[in-house]
Amino acid sequence: MKIRKFLQSDAAELSKLMRETVVKSNSADYSKEAVRCLVDEYTAERLIKDSKKMHIFVASEESKLLGTISLVGDRVSRMFVLPEFQGQKIGSKLIRCVEKFAKKEGKTILRVRSSLTAYGFYQKLGYQKTRRASNKFVGPIVWMKKEL
Ligand SMILES: CC(C)(COP(=O)(O)OP(=O)(O)OC[C@H]1O[C@@H](n2cnc3c(N)ncnc32)[C@H](O)[C@@H]1OP(=O)(O)O)[C@@H](O)C(=O)NCCC(=O)NCCS
Repeated sequence: MKIRKFLQSDAAELSKLMRETVVKSNSADYSKEAVRCLVDEYTAERLIKDSKKMHIFVASEESKLLGTISLVGDRVSRMFVLPEFQGQKIGSKLIRCVEKFAKKEGKTILRVRSSLTAYGFYQKLGYQKTRRASNKFVGPIVWMKKEL
């Protein structure tokens, strides 16, 4: 498996990966409306547009995309691993890659607005809860941070 920067040619497959993961993995913790809101947000066009203002990384095996993570300033965002590939440390590798990248960019801290679904994952990776909050579109989230 390798981790590389997002290419415009990944957009359709990455959009599908994010949407499928939200529907299958986040539905137990979030309302139908919240899931719909995220599905609507993750269009291929939006990803191409966003790739100009954030760092989007993908994990791929041969030509298949397995996961993704983004870095927006000092915030980790949009981390998804395809449901059938979860539990194989792909998420850990993605986050370590972003931490290394952020460190090289001179950042000393990373923040994340964790989903309720991923909270335990981020805790395992050394992120600490700073506060709970409610996002007006998706509902409950947990702000977390890690010093690099
Ligand atoms: C959260 C997510 C990215 C983790 O990816 P992953 O590849 O399955 O994670 P890993 O295999 O690297 O797991 C690393 C460790 O965290 C643990 N872990 C993974 N997901 C967890 C969870 N939801 N709750 C508690 N622990 C979790 C694993 O058991 C593993 O523990 P170990 O080191 O003791 O074996 C993935 O489950 C996912 O896409 N979730 C749904 C989308 C989501 O909510 N994304 C976050 C948006 S903020």
